[in-house]
Amino acid sequence: MTFRVDVITLFPEVVEHYAAATILGRAADKDVWRLRCHDPRDATHDVHRTVDDTPFGGGAGMVMKAEPLLATIRSVPDLPRPVVALTPSGRPLTHAVAREFAALEGVTLLCGRYEGIDQRVLDTEVDDEVSVGDFVLAGGELAALCLIEAVVRLRPGALGNDASVMEESFSDGLLEYPHYTKPAEVEGLVVPEILRSGDHARVARWRRAHSLRRTLQRRPDLLTEDALSDEDRRILAEFPDENPPAANG
Ligand code: ADE
Repeated sequence: MTFRVDVITLFPEVVEHYAAATILGRAADKDVWRLRCHDPRDATHDVHRTVDDTPFGGGAGMVMKAEPLLATIRSVPDLPRPVVALTPSGRPLTHAVAREFAALEGVTLLCGRYEGIDQRVLDTEVDDEVSVGDFVLAGGELAALCLIEAVVRLRPGALGNDASVMEESFSDGLLEYPHYTKPAEVEGLVVPEILRSGDHARVARWRRAHSLRRTLQRRPDLLTEDALSDEDRRILAEFPDENPPAANG
């Protein structure tokens, strides 16, 4: 079934342009997903098409007004649920969260601009809030596109090869191992011999060792030494670190 994505945004052309390009555009051509954008300015009634105002309580910046957002949400009879607001205060977007959305029939993404969205919109019409990281973007559009791409590529038929989704980073909670393609030598840098050996079992062990080591070194929040299985310890010992971190002192 076609996955439905509705996006409420002041910049529909930005979202539509990216969504028509690359893998997302091809997936839309194949009816894997369908995008509709709604501009809250179209739900305003004043000559300036005002969508923001100053915050009660004072302070810098502007807040997105409730009425145009509520009117937009309520004007679309078949708006997909859940309605998800993109905001730095949301729950973090992870592969697991992308899978959660990919299992649904669709989703509506609400992009904020300015300092934030009037809380009454979040309280009444928003089902979920998602953040793409601990940094602040100028608006939710890039975050919405991150979510769309992470989700749509998990839908059947989105990629040429569904196996690549199964094998990739994070499906096993680890970072990716290094990848190489032809030629075997570039500027004196050669592809590790094992990868050219045709020994699939040994290639698999090499890859796991490198995934494990990368994850241990770069993302201790995902994996620590004490959580390693005996087999993973053996695999790591089999392929010693080629670039050990410099010793302190
Ligand atoms: N809007 C602004 N910053 C954001 C972030 N980090 N994640 C999601 N939406 C945002």
